[in-house]
Amino acid sequence: MIAIAEPPIHRTGSASGERVRVELGERSYEIVVAGGALDRAGVEIAAALAGKAGPDGRTAAILVNPAVHRRYGMRLESSLTAAGFNILTIPVTAGETHKTLRTVSRIFDRLYEHAVDRRTVIVALGGGVIGDVAGYVAASYQRGLDLVQVPTTLLAQVDSSVGGKTGVNFGAAKNLIGAFHQPRLVLIDPDTLRSLPLRERRSGMAEVIKYGVISDAAFYDRVSLEIGDLLNLTSGFLDQAIAHSCRIKARVVEADERDLGLRAILNFGHTVGHALEAVTGYRVYRHGEAIALGMVSACLVGEEMGITGKNVTGSLVDLLRKAGFAVSLDPGMDPNAIICLLALDKKAIGGAARFVLAPKIGEATPGHLATDAVVRSALARQRLI
Ligand SMILES: NC(=O)c1ccc[n+]([C@@H]2O[C@H](COP(=O)([O-])OP(=O)(O)OC[C@H]3O[C@@H](n4cnc5c(N)ncnc54)[C@H](O)[C@@H]3O)[C@@H](O)[C@H]2O)c1
Repeated sequence: MIAIAEPPIHRTGSASGERVRVELGERSYEIVVAGGALDRAGVEIAAALAGKAGPDGRTAAILVNPAVHRRYGMRLESSLTAAGFNILTIPVTAGETHKTLRTVSRIFDRLYEHAVDRRTVIVALGGGVIGDVAGYVAASYQRGLDLVQVPTTLLAQVDSSVGGKTGVNFGAAKNLIGAFHQPRLVLIDPDTLRSLPLRERRSGMAEVIKYGVISDAAFYDRVSLEIGDLLNLTSGFLDQAIAHSCRIKARVVEADERDLGLRAILNFGHTVGHALEAVTGYRVYRHGEAIALGMVSACLVGEEMGITGKNVTGSLVDLLRKAGFAVSLDPGMDPNAIICLLALDKKAIGGAARFVLAPKIGEATPGHLATDAVVRSALARQRLI
């Protein structure tokens, strides 16, 4: 893995950054994308919560893992203190294996010990794991506290912090226990990506590429053009790419907040992607790496079903390769294990796996049922790609 040490970010946008509104009636909120946003967090959070009760005497409970706290915790705390919040920092151990009810329970203990009241705002500082756990804590403690997401991985910035899905894993099942709980604000400081290893940045970029494929061909083209600089954080388009990814997700969430229909298109590449993660015990692939492979699988399934053109697959494979993703299926991977998992997937119907397919770049439709034979043939072709 190549790690690029904290490269500078070249920025062409305005100092106040990009703002994307998520329109959900009384649950509406803003996503702010701005370099240096961490230092303005107190003011931004106070403004987002205004109207309920002012920040004076209000507690901000910051959930963060120690490594992220060392880098960014003090700045967030100082900014919140300056805005009049009392700070309660609760350390949470990093990693998917800690995305559990036990972690949630420990956080409840800390909130209880400190007798926090209902005006407390839960602030998630970190990647998607912290965001999902903090979101679930906020959804359930005292029947719901305000939540602010301050995502620091690219994946969390463009995906998990937006849309209100929160939860923890249970047994072998990912995200089995959870709730919908929208944040009051998502505050994104892209400068935090400087300390994120390239592999993690690339993982998040898979979701950025996904947004282009499912809903915006011009965005896809721009991302393709700038992919190297985006990954190296040297593209002046980075903040806009993050904001536009959030915008695409926001529009889908606005149309289908509870995941009853359209929201499924966000799962492009996730049918096989999730199976690859599960079959390898979540230890081999970063989420985005599995999704990159899964997007290629979805294209090949789409080709087999006469829905996706070969030019779509070709373009996506080229872009993913340029970004440094593996696109062919590992020869050691047993297609039967994947097919078995697909049949068990909660979205499968009568054993047939459900795919989101892209007829062309910039357009996707959910709910395509693919037979085992189709999936088997697509996976066999993906070994040779
Ligand atoms: N709620 C949703 O809609 C949604 C959507 C997609 C994914 N998810 C969830 O997101 C999780 C994955 O999130 P992730 O990829 O962010 O992983 P993660 O939260 O495990 O973070 C990856 C690693 O990066 C470290 N890190 C975070 N920010 C850093 C920074 N700025 N510099 C250096 N290191 C940093 C973390 O400490 C961690 O070790 C999964 O649990 C997945 O289920 C949720």
